[in-house]
Amino acid sequence: MEEKREQWGSKLGFILAAVGSAVGLGNIWRFPYVAYTNGGGAFLVPYFFAIFTAGIPLLILEYGMGHKYKGSTPLAIARTNKKWEWLGWWPTISAFMILGYYSMILSWAVNYFTFSFSKKWGNDSNAFFHNDFLQLTSSPFEFGKMVWPILLGIAFIWAINWFICYKGVKGGIEKASKILLPTLITIMIIIAIRAVTLNGATTGLNTLFTPDWSMVMKPKVWVAAYGQVFFSLSLAMGIMMTYSSYLPKKTDINNSAFMTAFANCGFEFLSAIAVFAILGYMATSQNLPMSEVVSSGVGLAFVVFPKVFSTMGGGGTILGSLFFLCLIFAGITSSVSLTEAVAAPFSDKFGIEKNKMVTIICVIGFIISSVFATGAGLYLLDIIDNFINNYGIVVVGLLEVLLIGWIVKPKKIREHTNEISYFKIGSWWDLTIKYLTPAILIFMLIQSIFTEIKNPYGGYPMLSLLLYGWSIIGIGVIGALLLAKRPWKDK
Ligand code: ALA
Repeated sequence: MEEKREQWGSKLGFILAAVGSAVGLGNIWRFPYVAYTNGGGAFLVPYFFAIFTAGIPLLILEYGMGHKYKGSTPLAIARTNKKWEWLGWWPTISAFMILGYYSMILSWAVNYFTFSFSKKWGNDSNAFFHNDFLQLTSSPFEFGKMVWPILLGIAFIWAINWFICYKGVKGGIEKASKILLPTLITIMIIIAIRAVTLNGATTGLNTLFTPDWSMVMKPKVWVAAYGQVFFSLSLAMGIMMTYSSYLPKKTDINNSAFMTAFANCGFEFLSAIAVFAILGYMATSQNLPMSEVVSSGVGLAFVVFPKVFSTMGGGGTILGSLFFLCLIFAGITSSVSLTEAVAAPFSDKFGIEKNKMVTIICVIGFIISSVFATGAGLYLLDIIDNFINNYGIVVVGLLEVLLIGWIVKPKKIREHTNEISYFKIGSWWDLTIKYLTPAILIFMLIQSIFTEIKNPYGGYPMLSLLLYGWSIIGIGVIGALLLAKRPWKDK
């Protein structure tokens, strides 16, 4: 049955929405740190290798599938092979889980945006963040109290998600992306210009880009590069297939995939430059080695940066508020894409109107996210994020390439995208999907599992990893299998 599906208003609208999904929290706080700890400049070798061997090929695959089979992820996959429908539901469930903690981090950013005007974190930004703001408990089993400002922020983010997605693909997501993405890029350029003119900026940039070549030989660096590329390009999260299902018949898939990847990559570099220039300033002004000021994601945005802004007087207020605004804007276009990636499959499957489904998803999502507003929120984020990224997403990506590479046959998708695209991709793509990408992903997965067994993640008690980590993977798979068993309404 030929169904009526929503459509993007223009190709530019689709690209902006896809780039908006890709450019997210992962670009601003994850990339700079991952690059630094994995060899600095030398990290760029595995990073670009990952972009060309997995990032772009998978983007073409996901765009091609969504466009050819005109359906959200599970529907598109079911249309290629009914037996594999569950593979479309797994990333849908993962996207929902990511939304839980994504909305929490965005809530922190909203709170910190308001704090930046009075520099509420005071002299000890570390104690303020962990004790006063998060009211962090001493273990992942202890939930402590509900932290109301965080809950309020989470409600605010879900309300925005709801508002944008409810208005539909063209009137909501596309419109929001057209405003938020250019604003975000402009603000980040302003921050980067200010950052590189700070005293000591070059110390930071040297640290980021000085290659440590010995790192290129380490498997963990390659694993980190692939992990970053998957997360950052929103791959295997059910987003890109769903987004491309809203493209008109005539469009340009191959070009769009390259453009999305390069735009995301460009933004990733821009934020890395800004972040490291600011860290260089901090190291120089406090006479500390760079290794002491660099910190991972959460610490970087909510502990180190606030400290830097405090040392800058009035300029720090402007830079601080702009920085948190960047996090909010970058995060909103990604969380909207995650919401759409959850609402669209359920709407397709059960024949419920999309905007009604958006409302249901946002209400349930908010209720579930409220556990992240407790004193254990940070632990939950840390564990769930590790398991979803290292296992959930990578396994789904691997199964996607195996399905297309060996069962559906890559030529079928390539011929479809080539027919409508301005430039054609050659048979290198088939070989990549069939052999290269799966081989690398299998290697990467074995590496991660070995590391996990040797050193259980983050030094957490095993029970907490089972409860919040492995069980999340289990819920994803079992939930996906159960959903796939239900019949499609009218399809
Ligand atoms: N691609 C999104 C990010 O980088 C999910 O945060």
